[in-house]
Amino acid sequence: MQRTLSIIKPDAVSRGLAGAVLAMIQDSGLTVVAMKMIHMSKAQAEGFYHVHKARPFFADLTAFMCSGPVVVSILEGDDAIARYRTLMGATNPANAEEGTIRKRYALDIEKNSVHGSDAPETAAFETAYFFSNLEIVG
Ligand code: CMP
Repeated sequence: MQRTLSIIKPDAVSRGLAGAVLAMIQDSGLTVVAMKMIHMSKAQAEGFYHVHKARPFFADLTAFMCSGPVVVSILEGDDAIARYRTLMGATNPANAEEGTIRKRYALDIEKNSVHGSDAPETAAFETAYFFSNLEIVG
């Protein structure tokens, strides 16, 4: 069993797509063990994406991520990190495969609808960034 952090980003939440994205997640067999809707401050978005601090897109990315509510959740399952990344599709939706969340809903590389942890170490940091143990079921 493995856990990963999912964020349904402001572009998807604002278009009323949170339910549709969650349905794709649950249809894939991943289990939601924690979930909430939050509206991040700039400082909270910068802390979450600190590994990208030196990237040219950092300012735009963090401004976008605090531009509206997001739905954060923890997904659990065998190989959950890789399975969720496959379900999300490529970071740039222009390269995303059919049947993926980003192919279906993402607008561009920034407004790409969803985030998922990319490794066990980042999943541990990211799940703890948003959730305490008391908020995780199962
Ligand atoms: P995410 O999986 O949330 O991780 C970092 C995010 O930076 C990524 O999704 C993209 O939405 C965003 N981003 C914006 N511009 C770029 C870029 N040129 N290359 C990679 N990621 C980018």
